[in-house]
Order: sequence, then structure tokens, then C-alpha cells
Amino acid sequence: MPSKAVYLETFGCQMNELDSELVAGSLTALGYRFTADASEADIVLYNTCSVRERAEQKVWSRLGEMKHRKAKQPDLVVGVLGCMAERDGQDLISRMPVVDIMCGPSELDKLPELLDNAVRTKASLAESDPKVAIRRSAKQVALQGNASRRSSTLAAAGDSLESLDLGRMISPVDFDGRRSAYVRITRGCNKFCTYCVVPHTRGAEIHRPPQNIIDEIKALADTGVVEITLLGQTVNHYRFEHDEAVTVDGIVQPQKGRTYKGSHNRDSFEGANTTTFADLLYRIHEEVPSVRRLRFLTSYPRDFGDDVLQVIRDCPRICRFIHVPAQTGSNRMLKMMNRGHSIEEYYEFIARCNEYLHQPEIGRPLMLGGDLIVGFPTETEEDHELTKELLTRSRYKNCYIFKYSPRPGTVSYDKIPDDIPDVLKRQRNNELLNLQTEISDSIAQEQVGGEFDIFVEGLSRREHKKRGTDVKPGSGMVGITIGGSAPQAKIAVLDPEIQGATVQMSGRTDGDLIVFFDVPTDGVKIPSEYIGQIVRAKITGADKLTLNGILV
Ligand code: SAH
Ligand code: SF4
Ligand code: F3S
Repeated sequence: MPSKAVYLETFGCQMNELDSELVAGSLTALGYRFTADASEADIVLYNTCSVRERAEQKVWSRLGEMKHRKAKQPDLVVGVLGCMAERDGQDLISRMPVVDIMCGPSELDKLPELLDNAVRTKASLAESDPKVAIRRSAKQVALQGNASRRSSTLAAAGDSLESLDLGRMISPVDFDGRRSAYVRITRGCNKFCTYCVVPHTRGAEIHRPPQNIIDEIKALADTGVVEITLLGQTVNHYRFEHDEAVTVDGIVQPQKGRTYKGSHNRDSFEGANTTTFADLLYRIHEEVPSVRRLRFLTSYPRDFGDDVLQVIRDCPRICRFIHVPAQTGSNRMLKMMNRGHSIEEYYEFIARCNEYLHQPEIGRPLMLGGDLIVGFPTETEEDHELTKELLTRSRYKNCYIFKYSPRPGTVSYDKIPDDIPDVLKRQRNNELLNLQTEISDSIAQEQVGGEFDIFVEGLSRREHKKRGTDVKPGSGMVGITIGGSAPQAKIAVLDPEIQGATVQMSGRTDGDLIVFFDVPTDGVKIPSEYIGQIVRAKITGADKLTLNGILV
């Protein structure tokens, strides 16, 4: 049987990007072939997001297109993976029989089996009666449903999930050109912010065993990866109790935890048999020194002890960037959102971060990032002013601002009417965006004259445009397409005729600021050899939110 061609499109957060990569790896190992061209695919998969309505609308419109396509290709298999599958449940298939597979984010280890069943069902239907094949879904469904939070099923869920991450295909072939990778440390979320769908779609919080995380990072580092981003919805809440350590084969493995020397925890998770987030960061830093940049996403303002800040301060390869969303500057809103902290506590936390980590004198200023929700129900002009104050005081280097989108199944959807008109949401959104742009701009200007270590990522956007090549899909809330087994863009092969000229490349400081700089193409070193390297650059100017530098 010739290998089936799969088109996989990803929406949503970094967690989804990682899931797609793992899925692509496991399917490639089974003989499926990936294509970036949906029109030549035998199987079309969407890894979806439910966090805001807009994210779902994009998928609905893709599914609409597939309906037409199926009329011409009765054995086409269409799958909806990820958070939208989990949130909509089987209803989605009744509404859209074009969907053959539904697979929640916690069930992705079952995808190969679902896919195999769906392909066979469709093929035999198409052979016997193409008209029926067009109309009828292959109905291959794996959803976690409500079971996810029962403690009896948690351990089992943890094990099957672990197998997806453990099965990661790590070989130099798959990581062609990759220098940067995501590694999951925690799944799910227990916070239940009232607006948020994630605890419902990703299930209960489960922490991965530290040894598995470290082994995965070592394997990635062996293939040349130098930048690791640890992922978790509340990443700093990581905490592994070794007494509970159960491996995939069900064997309990007691291990001795290791505590960062000299730590004096505030919100103590400490104990010989516990690995805290601080311990984990320290272990990775010490045990895999070839990881030259260690980052983590997303932090929750609570549960952030001094021990973590001390480890970041004392470990030179841990980045000085903390993405720590506040959502609003108003205590009243924070309460309605069930964020579990006051704005005063948030400011105290930011001050503590700055006290430990802001060191511009050694070229390592601390950079903070945030998320805001604008137009949460009952938000007044006064609340909005408090959010402006939040921006001014926090001085994020960047902040994502989202208009509140009521999500079915969440507390705020059920209990609090979405009473802020869209025009007002938009107006407040624009005001906050303008203010944030000014702040980002002034932070960029402050860096001029400074010298930084830059992690080189690739050709700059401008250079790509000039050359008509693909831009690396950015992380964050954008739709990306995966073609081939390595989802990140491959290194562009540079034409020999541009030798003698310069090429503009782009990289990031350890505070996550983007820097553009020229490299010579003098034949000594070709530009692609810079990718994944850390170079030193002096900042010569700032253009809006990006910095321009020269190599020193
Ligand atoms: N776990 C992360 C955020 C995950 S969702 C955290 O707690 O910070 C990413 C962002 O989407 C959130 O920070 C929030 O700003 C936004 N968001 C989540 N639900 C939303 C909703 N219903 N409407 C608008 N924005 C939302
Ligand atoms: Fe959603 Fe809150 Fe959990 Fe973040 S912490 S994923 S916003 S419930
Ligand atoms: Fe979206 Fe699910 Fe991530 S809802 S933001 S893909 S956890």
C-alpha cells in the first residue's frame, strides 16, 4: 500500500504545537508521509484550540471546505484533534459528518489506532458505495470526557499521556536543522479561572517525572538542540512527589529528590521526596549544560517562591524572561475571574522578580511578558483605568490583549452575562494596545548602546521577503502548517551568488527581545552556520519593537 499523505494544521498555543510535532513523529514512524499541500492529502487533520470563539470559527470554515472536497474524494479522512474536539464532544460529528476522527488532547497516544480504523472504514465504504462514504463519518472517537478529574483515573491518564511524550521521535534526521525545542513538564490545569476552557479541555494537572524530562532534554541536546522551552499552563506550579512515581510500565520508582542548595523557599513545596520547579530548573541547568538557553512558559503569579528566582539568578543559561499574565489590573475583576491573587500581590511579585533578576549592568535586564482580557463582564471605566495602570507599572516587553470571549462550559459563560458591547471592547482593546506599543517602544530604546548575547534563529523577515522564502512560523496564537516531520522551518539554503554581500539575520536576547543584524557572506562562514549559535551584538538602534545590532 503506498503511504498515505497527511496534512496537519495547528491552531492555538505552544502546547498544541508540541502535540502536533509528537503526533507527526509517531505517524511518520508508522509510514505516513506529511505534506504541506492540503489538496494532495489523503488525511486532513486539524489540531484545534477552543480558547476563544474565533479560534473555533477558523476550524469550522476549514471543515466546510472539506465537505466539498469529500464529494470528489469519498475516501478522504478528516480528523479534529485537540481542545475543540474535547469541548464539543460527539456533537461535532452529528453537526459535521465530514469529521471521521475526534481525538482530545489527552488521548493523542490513541491517534494511530483511530486513524488506521478510519482509513480502513472509509476505503471499504468508498469501494462499496461512494455516496454513503461521502455522507457517513467513520466515527473514530477518543475523548477524555468528565472522567479526567477523578483521582482513580488520574494515574492511568498520566501513564498513557506520558507515553506520547516518551515516544518522541528524536533522531538527527527528524531534527534536521532544529536548534530549539519545546518540552512538556506539566499537563492540564487546576486553576479554573472562570473564563477559561483549558481545565475542561486539557483535564487535571499532571506533572511529568523529572527523570523523563531530563532524559528527553538530553536526547534533544544530543541532536544539536541548544534552546529548550519548558511548557505548562502554570509552569512554575511544577511539583513531583517521588513517592507517587509510577513509570509507564506501572513500576513504582522511588527516587530521592534534589533540592537547590541555599534555597529558602517561601511557598514551600520542599522535601527530600519532592522535586519542585526550582529543583527541576537547577537539575536541567547542571545536568545538560549543552542547553545554552532554558526558558519556560507560562508562569502563574502565585506559587512563585524566591527559590525559583534564586535559581534563575544563579544559573547563567536560564533566560531572563518571565511571561506572567495578570489578565486585569482590577481586584474586583480578578475576583470575578477567580485568579486567586490580588493586584497588590501581583505588584509585589513583579517587584521581587526585578529585585532578584533585573541586572542591566551585566547585560541581563529582566523582561516580563503578559496577557490581558479586555471587556470581561461588568468591566467599568474604572476597572479599565486600573488595567492601564497595570501596563504602566509592569512594563511588559510585550503583552497579548484579548477581547473577552464567552466559552460554553465555563463558569463565566453560565453565570455572568457578556454585557460589554463589542464596540467598547474594541475601543478599550485599542487603548491598551497603543499604551503597550509605547511601553514596548521605550523598552527597546533603552537597550540601544548595550551589548547582548543573541541566539541566532534564522534569516530575518525582511531577508525572507527579499528572497521569497518561508518565514519561520512564530510561536503564539497563530495557525501554522506542518509539512514534513520537522514543523519548524528548515534552514534556508543560501544561494552561492549572494557571496560578498551581507545577509540580515534575526535572533533573540535572553530577555526574548528580537534583534536584527547583518552577517557577512565572505565564504569564511555561510550564514546558515550562524543559526543556533550565540553571538555577541551591540545594539545600534531600535525600530518600533525590534532592535538592530552589529556583531562585535
Ligand atoms: N495558562 C495561561 C494561559 C492560557 S490561555 C495563564 O494562566 O496565563 C492564554 C490566554 O488566553 C490567557 O492568558 C487569557 O488572557 C486568554 N483567554 C483565555 N480564555 C479567554 C476567553 N474566554 N476570552 C478571552 N481571552 C481568553
Ligand atoms: Fe486557564 Fe487560568 Fe488555567 Fe491559565 S491558569 S489555563 S487562564 S484556568
Ligand atoms: Fe487553545 Fe487548548 Fe492551548 S484551548 S490555548 S489549544 S490549551
